[in-house]
Amino acid sequence: MKKIIFWIVIVFLAIQFIPVDKVNKPIDRKNNFVDIYKTPHNIKTILKNACYDCHSNETIYPDYAHVAPISWAVKDHINEGREYLNFSEWGTYNNDIRKNAIQKTLETVRNKQMPLPSYINYHPAANLTTRQRTDLENYFLSIQNNSAL
Ligand code: HEC
Repeated sequence: MKKIIFWIVIVFLAIQFIPVDKVNKPIDRKNNFVDIYKTPHNIKTILKNACYDCHSNETIYPDYAHVAPISWAVKDHINEGREYLNFSEWGTYNNDIRKNAIQKTLETVRNKQMPLPSYINYHPAANLTTRQRTDLENYFLSIQNNSAL
């Protein structure tokens, strides 16, 4: 038994040395969603609190994200989230991708699929009120209806 615990501790310590890339890419304002649409302050706050950690290059890593293997799971979510939708790189998306992203955003916010429920447990500010969800939806609807998408 002691031996098993010893090896668990050794492996746990060893994996802490496996690097996880937590460096955010610099923000290019001309591609940045909130700069492109001059997003109002209240909506920006909702996006930053609830979405940006996984869907932008402005990720703020929580303390628990520095400990392996949790750090790997966190980085996986971030990589995957950015792949689907990265607000920092909005300017590089063509119209079809933008339309699709807006549609999916409306759906996932409405269905409460986003922000990821597991994330909300550790980020109370991401636990959006009904009002905040409605504001976010209305904002994305207004962009959807904007011909200059
Ligand atoms: C903890 C990380 C995390 C947070 C926070 C988060 N997402 Fe996601 N998001 C993901 C991951 C991972 C995926 C891809 C897998 C999936 O759909 O579950 C995703 C997928 C998406 C998709 C694409 C869905 C599809 O089927 O194409 C949209 C749109 C989206 N998120 C919007 C949002 C919005 C809007 C917020 C904030 C209100 C948000 N997400 C917050 C991790 C996150």
